[in-house]
Amino acid sequence: MTAGEDRPVPSGDSDFVVVANRLPVDKVRLPDGSTTWKRSPGGLVTALEPLLRKRKGAWIGWPGIVAEDDEEAAGIDDVDHSEPIVDDEMLLYPVRLSGDDVAEYYEGFSNATLWPLYHDVIVKPIYHRKWWDRYVEVNRRFAEATCRVAAQGATVWVQDYQLQLVPKMLRMLRPDLTIGFFLHIPFPPVELFMQMPWRTEIIEGLLGADLVGFHLPGGAQNFMILSRRLLGANTSRANVGVRSRFGQVQIGFRTVKVGAFPISIDSAELDQKARHRDIRRRARELRAELGNPKKILLGVDRLDYTKGIDVRLEAFSELLEEGRADRNEVVLVQLATPSRERVESYRLLRDDIERQVGHINGEYGEVGHPVVQYLHRPLPREDLIAFYVAADVMLVTPLRDGMNLVAKEYVACRSDLGGALVLSEFTGAAAELRQAYLVNPHDLNGVKDKIVAALEQDPEDGRRRMRALRRQVLAHDVDRWARAFLDTLAGDPGADTSQLVDTEQSDRM
Ligand code: ADP
Ligand code: F6P
Repeated sequence: MTAGEDRPVPSGDSDFVVVANRLPVDKVRLPDGSTTWKRSPGGLVTALEPLLRKRKGAWIGWPGIVAEDDEEAAGIDDVDHSEPIVDDEMLLYPVRLSGDDVAEYYEGFSNATLWPLYHDVIVKPIYHRKWWDRYVEVNRRFAEATCRVAAQGATVWVQDYQLQLVPKMLRMLRPDLTIGFFLHIPFPPVELFMQMPWRTEIIEGLLGADLVGFHLPGGAQNFMILSRRLLGANTSRANVGVRSRFGQVQIGFRTVKVGAFPISIDSAELDQKARHRDIRRRARELRAELGNPKKILLGVDRLDYTKGIDVRLEAFSELLEEGRADRNEVVLVQLATPSRERVESYRLLRDDIERQVGHINGEYGEVGHPVVQYLHRPLPREDLIAFYVAADVMLVTPLRDGMNLVAKEYVACRSDLGGALVLSEFTGAAAELRQAYLVNPHDLNGVKDKIVAALEQDPEDGRRRMRALRRQVLAHDVDRWARAFLDTLAGDPGADTSQLVDTEQSDRM
């Protein structure tokens, strides 16, 4: 098959292919030089892994390990079509990245340019031409790898901000494919996105898909406005007519659907696990290990500056100082998965958080009884569930977050209707979890008041809130999310078109 070029473009035999920056497992080098696999960090994997297992699909991604040099990467970055890693019937195809790829494509353009720009410039995005060039090059490598795996007419689902150019590249190589794209992080307002020197290329890249999905209608709307502004009539690229209207962007003869699809979790599975006797026992043990405090506050995050970990620590510190939280009765547990540790803003964040934790414990802790327990490592899933079951108040305080699955996980684990969720208005989850204690993370007094309200909630009111939250999370699980997206992508007339977004609609928060 050719794609308008002389060179034949290969194809594979998978009918359903997910393409993401990371595989669901990371390859880890052990001190003795051998390697092993461990679950990769982040919400994307949490959401997509159970789904792909059920569909027995193929997954193309980086195995999280750095090839020693460019030469090694060049030798091994081709997907070996004959030998994918088979993981419980899911086929994993690694795309290897060299040290320079990781530094410029992943740590650089993805996580020091796009990530801060798309999260309301909480830190200043860095624009480097070298990083952009590498982003283009690595996106091309993912697109080519996908061609080798996807069967004729396959459905390919491209994920997240690291791969925004892949839809267009794939369309040019393989016009036979049906291509979906889903963004797992917020899509920024027009005035912020316009900073991006390669803004037109990114919008064009995304418009290579048949369906572009966002968590919230606001993100979809920003995208439609930008498509029109950057590619529409009267711009230098106005070689095709671009119009956007309800749920679609029209580019020449092609129609790209645009919609909001709030992601979720495998709620039933989590609910079931959290009910298990062993988890209940582990939750009691954890409470005992913490010194049987009256109340446990819990934070669970990747160590990321978007997550507002500093906000909750500051609020807790002031509550202790004012005596509104009793240092003998309350413990805050902060579980923080290491993340993007070579990116400077993440290094600075870690220093800040650890200084804050040290300060609070120095002021308010006792020997053998710190008031903040901080673990800088990922926990095994069972332990994490036990923490959710044990926690009286869950603190989710991001300054900006596309969705935040931790909030949904906590709710799914509380079949006892206990606990309280303090949730930032600036998360995608807040659009659904209206009965949480909603906070503006920029308003410290407001955060403190809501934490106190959650700590002191009337048990009956708490149960009422949790019942309503659970109804939402159990009914809107990750399967429903995937079905809504994939049915819309397939043009299924039964698909719920309320997911498609009107250009006039505006509901960013
Ligand atoms: P993000 O995708 O930005 O990391 P989410 O809240 O959407 O944020 O998803 C985070 C996922 O990572 C959740 O499934 C959560 O359970 C998991 N996770 C976060 N921190 C830890 C931790 N310390 N140990 C184990 N899992 C964690
Ligand atoms: O959606 C946010 C995201 O970047 C996902 O792509 C990923 O699952 C998660 O955060 C973890 O990030 P990283 O792959 O950079 O460790």
